[in-house]
Amino acid sequence: MRKKIVAGNWKMNNNLNETIKLIDDLKNEISSVDVKIMIAPSFPFLRKAVKQIDDFGIEVISQNVNDNDSGAFTGEVSAKMLKSIGVNTTLIGHSERRAFYNEEDSLLLKKIKHAIENKMNVIFCFGEELSDRKSDNHFDVVKNQLDSTVMKLEKDLWKKIILAYEPVWAIGTGETASADQAQEIHEFVRGCISKRFGSVISNNVSILYGGSVKPSNAAEIFSKKDVDGGLIGGAALNAIDFSKIIEANR
Ligand code: PGA
Repeated sequence: MRKKIVAGNWKMNNNLNETIKLIDDLKNEISSVDVKIMIAPSFPFLRKAVKQIDDFGIEVISQNVNDNDSGAFTGEVSAKMLKSIGVNTTLIGHSERRAFYNEEDSLLLKKIKHAIENKMNVIFCFGEELSDRKSDNHFDVVKNQLDSTVMKLEKDLWKKIILAYEPVWAIGTGETASADQAQEIHEFVRGCISKRFGSVISNNVSILYGGSVKPSNAAEIFSKKDVDGGLIGGAALNAIDFSKIIEANR
């Protein structure tokens, strides 16, 4: 059966001391649960976070990865570097990477393949913009994003993939997709995967929802049958809120 997951994307927040404090607070707040918990601090603090978490049961993941092994790519971080410090999962395709750093599907596919070749797991993010939803194109946009990326993967690579549906209009805006809107897209995506790769893969892939998930709306969103958890931004920066969201996914 597919895993329930709650992942915190800390984005470009927290210095070293704040990172250490938030991890300490999380260790105090979170009781053992059968939900997989992940946090994505900034690159400079990943090694420290891995050591600090130790065997507590939170996976430390990265927010991004380059698509090359090594070389003249100033400012970039490779999968091999991440693996060497104990980071085994990365986000790829977050809408902020797409919007601010012009990361397009062709590059994202290279990143996905490269990460998996290096034995990393991938949380692949996708989702429509407000204009797509207003013009009723959200299903097509989502399908195109998937068709040009993960749908091109070989079948046996899917065990390394987690998906995160993040409608851009709901990220950091306080505007949340309703639980029904999330379910509708998750079900559609699972159906597309089933058509292409069969029901075993489509039933086993975890599909997370992201976009203004809070303690007050998490339980309703997570109660939907095709929503396997959340990718949490703002609310992941507060240990109490994040642990309440984890509890909501039991
Ligand atoms: P948000 O961010 O929870 O602050 O909306 C979600 C995300 O960007 O992953």
